[in-house]
Order: sequence, then structure tokens, then C-alpha cells
Amino acid sequence: MLTFYKIVSTQFQPEDKRKVTTHRLTEMKSRGEKISMLTAYDYSMAKLIDSAGIDVILVGDSAANVMAGHVTTLPITLDQMIYHGSSVMRAVSRALVVVDMPFGSYQGNPEVALASAIRIMKETNADCIKLEGGTCVKESVAKIISAGIPVMGHLGLTPQSINQFGSYNVRAKEETEAHRLIEDAKLLQSLGCFSLVLEKIPATLAAQVASELTIPVIGIGAGGAVDGQVLVMHDMLGINDGFNPRFLRRYANVGEQITQAVSQYVSDVKGSDFPSEKEQY
Ligand code: KIV
Repeated sequence: MLTFYKIVSTQFQPEDKRKVTTHRLTEMKSRGEKISMLTAYDYSMAKLIDSAGIDVILVGDSAANVMAGHVTTLPITLDQMIYHGSSVMRAVSRALVVVDMPFGSYQGNPEVALASAIRIMKETNADCIKLEGGTCVKESVAKIISAGIPVMGHLGLTPQSINQFGSYNVRAKEETEAHRLIEDAKLLQSLGCFSLVLEKIPATLAAQVASELTIPVIGIGAGGAVDGQVLVMHDMLGINDGFNPRFLRRYANVGEQITQAVSQYVSDVKGSDFPSEKEQY
């Protein structure tokens, strides 16, 4: 890792300031450099994350949860994803930006899928799209890729299917589902997907998929033997403190800092301590 990054105190900064492309992710896999990926949904956070050296920014449909307060990812619309995607794109200069296709914008009808993907690409200026599922969406995946749009797949726990799954538990623990997942992963690669997200599956299964595929496999709750890791930014920064799965590592307690800062501000205003003489004209 140290050959790709220089150490600045305890933080890593990429020496390679070039824009990250789908091809560069494949190169990273072949030389064993791990891929870092985080979600972002707005201009200001995307700017901070990009300047910290993240490789991939995912404009996830998890915006439905962390930005809009929905219980599932299902309600978010294509227009809303485009709004988030274009906000992020205005901030980013280095990271590869992936926009999630929302529920209902690609399942069932490849023509609709292509029209949705084209809207995302044209109206956000993003680099590529991500969608959930394997065999069941193969015609849509093929159609989108045939138009020259890079597609990232997503298997394992696919939150858009929560009503079918019935829970957010670990997926593919049983042999039949694990076998289907491996087949779906190979199918997505053969259709031309440039990368694959595996969510909440056993680490051994994820390791097997990553070693059998040539495209980069990025995990969330899928162990360390994959080609990269993705987390939801609000979870890892401690903004969303009600979500504590085993796979989540908290890197900050931003939620607590915000609450403390705001309560200090309220008390300063109430006590006529703010603004001071220096803070006025
Ligand atoms: O929407 C999202 O944030 C995602 C990640 C969990 C991979 O799809």
C-alpha cells in the first residue's frame, strides 16, 4: 500500500491526482491495491471526501434513509437521485462517481432501464451507474452497457428487495443461495459490468467471488479478502448513530459534535453572548 500512497502524519493522501476511471479500478485490482469507496449525496460532503483521497464516491439510494428519513430505499425517485448525483458531481475532481439507479427505474423493462440510465448520465455528468440484482435484471444490464454506460453490479443483501427478503440479515449463508450468488456474479462480469458490490454475505464466500472474478469486488459487510470496501458516510462518521451492525467501524462522532456545537450556539444566543463586538460591523 505504501507504494501507492504517501503518509501525511497518520493520514493517507493519494500521490496520483489523476481522475479515477473504471479502468484504473481494474488496474488497482491487478496490482493488489485496495479500493476505497464511500457514499455522498451533496456538494459539501462530496468535496471533503474527494479531497481526502477517496477512490470512488457512491451516490447511493441510501439517500432515501440518511437524507430523507425513509425506512427503506424504495421511495427515492429518479429525479431525486439525479439531484443528488449532480450536486456531488459539481464537487468532485478526482474520485470516480457512481450513481445508484433507484427502485422502479430499471427492473422489468430494458428500454425503461436504458432511458433511466441515460437520464442519470446526461443530467448528472456522473461516470457510471450501479444497480441491484443478477439474472433477474440481465436484459437491463446488457442494454445499458450496450449504450456505452459503465455498470457496477450489487449482489448479496440488495436493499431494494427488502420486502422479498423480510429482513436485513446476512445473505447467502445457505449453499443454494451462495451458489446462485456466484453464478450471478459471473453473469454480471460476462455481461460487461466493470465492478461488483457484495453486501452483507459471509467473508469466505466474498473471498471466493473476488478471487474468481477479474473485475474489482467491493464489499460492505463482506470481509477483508475483497478488492475494496464501501461504507455509508453517515454511518462511519457517526452522524447516523442508531445503526450499529457488526461490520461498521466508526471513524468519528460527528453527530455528537454537531449537537454540542448547536447547543452551545443556542445558549450563546439566549445569553446574548453571540455576537460579540468583534463579530459585528
Ligand atoms: O445505497 C448505498 O449506500 C449502497 C451501499 C450500501 C453499497 O448501495
